[in-house]
Amino acid sequence: MNQPRRVEHQETDKGYVPVYTTAVVEQPWADYKAEDHATWGALYQRQRELLVGRACDEFLRAQDEMGMTPHAIPRFDQLNEVLGAATGWTLVGVEGLLPELEFFDHLANRRFPVTWWIRRPDQIDYIAEPDLFHDLFGHVPLLMNPLFADYMEAYGRGGVKAHGIGPEALVNLTRLYWYTVEFGLINTPEGLRIYGSGIVSSKGESLYSLESDAPNRIGFDLERVMRTRYRIDTFQKTYFVIDSFAQLIAATEPDFTPIYARLAQREAFAAGKVLESDQVFTRGSGEGWATDADV
Ligand SMILES: [Fe+2]
Repeated sequence: MNQPRRVEHQETDKGYVPVYTTAVVEQPWADYKAEDHATWGALYQRQRELLVGRACDEFLRAQDEMGMTPHAIPRFDQLNEVLGAATGWTLVGVEGLLPELEFFDHLANRRFPVTWWIRRPDQIDYIAEPDLFHDLFGHVPLLMNPLFADYMEAYGRGGVKAHGIGPEALVNLTRLYWYTVEFGLINTPEGLRIYGSGIVSSKGESLYSLESDAPNRIGFDLERVMRTRYRIDTFQKTYFVIDSFAQLIAATEPDFTPIYARLAQREAFAAGKVLESDQVFTRGSGEGWATDADV
């Protein structure tokens, strides 16, 4: 399949990333090759096996309800029928990462941008930028959950607002996304479970986030999260644990403007830092972390 068209690069909080055409594109489903469907199938099967008992029930159930299977890359239009009926969200096809304001505007209007192309077979274990597997397998299922669906919309509206306030506010808000939507854990009666898309779409991090002794696992606290730097080049040093999706909604209800103002006066915390005020589920051994422990 043709690789997507790159238009420029952009320095962002997520690193130096390619920025593609921002237009919404029709998913060219008929153009996927057998190899693309096979890549989806291999990744789907491997992650599903791994995630039973590791991902939260809401995530696994939603994948089934949406009719995702390893047999073929799902069609956005079919998923949209189920998703629209459940929570009013719509998937839109894109070439890749969008400029922030555009991304926020989609979320604020309950549209989730999904990269239409899938990684090559030699990229099964790792690809730096989000592809169809990360976006569709990782992000889309929880949009079926009414609480999480509301959280994502609120995040989009918050993003539009933060964009107007300034770059520091955006950094704070992006950390919230990172530590919840991408790398969040949830506490359940059966133990900690994964809900973050960055984790569920990665074999290595699905195991590491729950089973490694290295990272910290700390109770979610909005301002604590917004003050905490994160790593984009390694597994996380700290995971934040929510009690429920309702907790996320409650935390994002207040106006963030005074929080941004407060945080602007304070130093950010290093990614691996544990504070006395933290609710610590597990304190990480830090094993395997680079010596730049302050990052
Ligand atoms: Fe993502």
